Amino acid sequence: MSDTPVNPYDEGDLKRSLGPFHLISLGIGCIIGAGIFVLTGQAAATFAGPGVVYSFAIAGLGCLFAGLCYSEFASMIPVAGSAYTYTYATLGKFVGWIIGWNLVLEYLAASSTVAVGWSGYFNDFMSHIGLPIPAMFNGAPMAMHSFNEFVATGSYINLPAVLLVAFITAILVIGVQASANFNNAMVVIKLAIVLVVIFACFSYVVPANHVPFIPPNTGEVGHFGWTGVFRATGVLFFAYIGFDAVSVAAQEAKNPQRDIPLGMLGSLIICTFLYMVMSWVLTGIANYTTLNVAHPVSKAVEALPGTAWLTQWVNVGAVVGLASVVLVLLLAQSRIFYAMGRDGMISPIFNQIHPRFRTPWKGSIICGIFSAIMAGFLPLDILGQLVSIGTLAAFAIVCVGVMVLRVRAPLAKRPFRTPLVWVTAPLGIVMCVGMMAFLPLDTWLRLGVWTVIGLLIYVFYSSKHTRPSRYIIKNEA
Ligand code: ALA
Repeated sequence: MSDTPVNPYDEGDLKRSLGPFHLISLGIGCIIGAGIFVLTGQAAATFAGPGVVYSFAIAGLGCLFAGLCYSEFASMIPVAGSAYTYTYATLGKFVGWIIGWNLVLEYLAASSTVAVGWSGYFNDFMSHIGLPIPAMFNGAPMAMHSFNEFVATGSYINLPAVLLVAFITAILVIGVQASANFNNAMVVIKLAIVLVVIFACFSYVVPANHVPFIPPNTGEVGHFGWTGVFRATGVLFFAYIGFDAVSVAAQEAKNPQRDIPLGMLGSLIICTFLYMVMSWVLTGIANYTTLNVAHPVSKAVEALPGTAWLTQWVNVGAVVGLASVVLVLLLAQSRIFYAMGRDGMISPIFNQIHPRFRTPWKGSIICGIFSAIMAGFLPLDILGQLVSIGTLAAFAIVCVGVMVLRVRAPLAKRPFRTPLVWVTAPLGIVMCVGMMAFLPLDTWLRLGVWTVIGLLIYVFYSSKHTRPSRYIIKNEA
């Protein structure tokens, strides 16, 4: 007999195989990635100096408020689809679509962004062992310098990024258990590297590098001073993207009501702590002005006496770590599409389950193709901020949704209740919208374009095909 608890939401298609350890690991697998390994250095050098430690704390707090709201929903509607499913059930079809469309930015676009970050570390790693990837195959054909300014790079395709996405898509098709095992192995390596960097470098911290902790503002909003710390918060929010991916796997969790909140909040708290310590160490061993490079962690470590051995390990950790992020992001995206296809928001091809592997295999392959194309050809340097703004908008709407539901269905069964919801949810909204406000205007314009495309799809397809949500929440009798 199976010891898997019977779950009223079990629809018998996706396989319930994930326990609490797997779920925390899934969260960490998705959270620690390009944010800490790449963006920290840039954010410190251009916006906040050592004040990035505060930026991580503020972004983590915003995520915690949103995560507490997510957890209430996830415990009430423990099915695939995450914020999309919750908002569709509570705020209706249109808002559900807007959220689903923003989550595509969060997961699909972020998977491409991280695959490109991975490719940078991989190229560096290959160069170190004397096998550099030819320049024509290691980058996007163009870079975007402003909203409408493109520059040719001389490359044809980012081949390593495309191959990584193809490999990970194959793992996802084979099964969520295989994916979770693969993810667990990568998370252990990634965490080990982060901890080794922290412990090995702690004694090299030079107090003078932390003075002043927040460099004075240059006179321009967002360039150092507290406005710089806030702008860095919006940018470094990317480093937290992924904790909500745990809720996407609710339909594959053995005991989702208990374990999804545990997985989300547990991984978030662990990563906030690690980010703050790691960024403190990083800005302590190297002056923040030197960190604006593609490999800030290995660069800072390389400059220390007697730590040459560690530099190569940092590269390996980044290569492994970023691959696990791409895995979880693509897993999440295929589950969001699965839920949207099931509701008729998008083509039903996305919710077809493989008879043997019991995964939404066609959806996974389609996601993989889109992610690979974006990773291979698009200029993704600016996409990271677009990913952040889309995700922040989704988080803010989840915080609204949880309050709406408290009013509409106050007596519904809530296995997990957001503590102090009338304080927590508004604070979540203020913090998410605040982080959005500090992102550059270009990013807002891109979000506008993305939203218009989404609205067109909604008007011409989704609004005509969507079935009513099957998760309308009612008060308990
Ligand atoms: N949080 C993930 C990262 O930093 C997306 O790569």
